[in-house]
Amino acid sequence: MSGKLWGGRFAGKTHPLMEEFGRSLESDRRLVFCDLRVCRAHLQMLSEVGAVSSQTRQKLIATIDQVKAELEEGVLQIAGDHEDIHSWVEAELRGRAGDEASLIRLGRSRNDLVVTDFRLWTRQAIQDIQQAVRELQGVLLQRAEQHARDYLPGYTHLQRAQPVALSHHLLAHFWSLQRDFQRLADCADEADCCPLGAGALAGSSWAIQPQRTAELLGFSRSFDNSLDAVSDRDFAVEFLSALSLCMIHLSRMSEELILWSAAEFGFATFDDAWSTGSSLMPQKKNPDPAELIRGRTGRVIGHLQSLLVTLKGLPLAYNRDLQEDKPPVFEAAEMVEKCVLVMAGVMASVRFETQRMEQACADPGLLATDLADHLVRAGQPFNVAHELAGKWVDQRLDHEEAQIVHPHAEQLSALSVLHARRHAGAAGPFSVDLQLQKARASIQ
Ligand code: ARG
Repeated sequence: MSGKLWGGRFAGKTHPLMEEFGRSLESDRRLVFCDLRVCRAHLQMLSEVGAVSSQTRQKLIATIDQVKAELEEGVLQIAGDHEDIHSWVEAELRGRAGDEASLIRLGRSRNDLVVTDFRLWTRQAIQDIQQAVRELQGVLLQRAEQHARDYLPGYTHLQRAQPVALSHHLLAHFWSLQRDFQRLADCADEADCCPLGAGALAGSSWAIQPQRTAELLGFSRSFDNSLDAVSDRDFAVEFLSALSLCMIHLSRMSEELILWSAAEFGFATFDDAWSTGSSLMPQKKNPDPAELIRGRTGRVIGHLQSLLVTLKGLPLAYNRDLQEDKPPVFEAAEMVEKCVLVMAGVMASVRFETQRMEQACADPGLLATDLADHLVRAGQPFNVAHELAGKWVDQRLDHEEAQIVHPHAEQLSALSVLHARRHAGAAGPFSVDLQLQKARASIQ
């Protein structure tokens, strides 16, 4: 045997710095259960097609199951200076079952193995994040139901515009998360293709059945082209892109909570459990979770860029650059799940200062659009009505104009203009009641 785990080709040893440089175990240890599952399915298929005996299959599958159980119980640790998780798994199996265990390498390469593991991991991560998204949606819905009769100014250009129901505002965020959920479902579909059997790049001379391993692993389909199978990382790009967009939504929610909790707005007060003080200024209560989410959004977007740049310019098929595909996905997925759960905690506990919101709606400017609408109903052309309402806000109406405008203006209040918005999707309470039902149904 040479000085290397894999490589009769080499007479000399690897430089220690090269060994360390090439190692990915610290990161890809996350794939261990996926790797064991893949080994198991691969052996099962190999025995079904007669490439390994059923005796060998039984022995090795029992060994795999034992390793899995010990890892789950915490009595076995992933340690040692193995290059990656696949080397660790093989070494572990060989340590227990002898050289026969190396048969798991028959008809398969680390190139198809790693991406099969990665796809399995991604599918599980998607489910976990979807569950977290549902939790946050549930919180938003609950808060919306609780505040169905409260209202605040809606803003455009961060200037007060028209009154909106607080529930309507909260549900706006609910729907953006609904799209995230759907995008993640689409990513799961993209990841749902099994590359195992593509081998290093060209498939195998053994009569393997990739369809069968796909089925055993719960994939709905197998690859069409072995070169594509080992080099395709579209699923990871789509996943990071869906995660980036989800973070952008969380970041916008965060920005809003930060603004609302500033004294200048005074619309929200963070719960003590979800805010922090200052080491110097005793009066401070800072919206840290929201700021951290806003900050981590940059990192998740960075991970998407990182993967795109890694892939750009890679020739077919597997290249070692592809080892760099996993850390950004692992970190982004773990980060997003946590951010979604933190946002759920913040949203569930933040106090909405509904009196402050209502006071802010006393601004007569919020009535101007409806005043113009009233004047149009009374026969004024729209441009004239618009101008008169603008002059009313600015208190520049002459005597004659005031006679036309005031009787209409007197009929208006924040509540009346809010209640006037009753069509589907509008900001008034009648519409929002229907919207709440629809939202509730969409997550059940
Ligand atoms: N650790 C490697 C990765 O993550 C596994 C595949 C290695 N393949 C190879 N031909 N060196 O991509």
